[in-house]
Parts: sequence; structure tokens; C-alpha cells
Amino acid sequence: MKINTTINGKAVSLETNPNTMLAEALRKAGYKGVKIGCGEGSCGACAVMIDGRPRNSCILPAGMAEGSEILTVEGMGNPENPHVLQQAFVDSGSTQCGYCNPGALIAAKALLDRNPSPTADDVKDALDGNLCRCTGYVKRIDAVLEAAKAGKKADKKPAKRAGGKK
Ligand code: FES
Ligand code: FES
Repeated sequence: MKINTTINGKAVSLETNPNTMLAEALRKAGYKGVKIGCGEGSCGACAVMIDGRPRNSCILPAGMAEGSEILTVEGMGNPENPHVLQQAFVDSGSTQCGYCNPGALIAAKALLDRNPSPTADDVKDALDGNLCRCTGYVKRIDAVLEAAKAGKKADKKPAKRAGGKK
């Protein structure tokens, strides 16, 4: 069955069983930035934005995404032209294995979209559901605050280029 969506600004029909979890369907369609960690809605690795809200796609049947707008980390930026949050994660050392980063970036973007001037507690709350076994949580909070302080909207790309890892 085809599930008609908009992914990262483009119309995409996902060819999948509607009961397949969205994370799996997205990965099968090539959006490998969507990571599957726990597979049960508790680690946030699979978070994508659906109609402007971060959702754990490992517990969302793909059929529920019919007609929705999805943003994956690939839609935020890339190594040549990273999103301000992606650059801040790299600059702050908030990435080691990187597995948690796509979901955390999506959660951080959702926060900055609704609150461009968050406090550290706001960031802590927003990233509460995104587990990281490598870097801990202080650096990523700093990264989001830095991105916000730069005065850039979360949907803008930064002026400087970076070749660092995502
Ligand atoms: Fe989806 Fe952990 S893989 S919440
Ligand atoms: Fe490895 Fe977060 S950087 S899990």
C-alpha cells in the first residue's frame, strides 16, 4: 500500500504495509538518519517531526502518517551545509557515536521552533526523551543554548560551512 506523505519538503509515497512502524518504512525508503534504538518509544533515537511535532516513529504505524508532513534529520542540513543546531552539536562535542543525534536534533529543532530563547531547563525538558550513552547531557544542552544565542531561527542554515561529521 502507498502512504502519501511529504518528507523533507518533497512529496513521497511510502510503499509499505500500513502497520509497519514508520521508522522502519522511512529507513527502507532511504532515510537512514532515522535510527532505531529501543524500538519501544523510550530512547528518542527514531524521533522525526510530524506536522511540526517530534514523534517517536518506532511506535507509530506508517499508515498514521498518511497526508502528513515529515521532517527527518536529512531535511535539517548536511555536512556541507549544516543546520545551526547540527553545527552546534559538532562544535560542542555533543556527538560521539552519533546514534542519538538525529532524534536529539529533531527534538531540539522542535523546541527552538516554538521557543527561540529557551532556558537550560527548557532544553533539558525538551530533550528529556532522547537518551545518549556517550556524551552525557551537559554538552548538548550547551549546544542548543549556543544555537539559540546565535540568534538564528531553527529553520535557518548557518553562515559558516563545516565538513565535520553529523
Ligand atoms: Fe524509537 Fe527508541 S527507537 S524511541
Ligand atoms: Fe552515542 Fe549519543 S553520541 S548515544
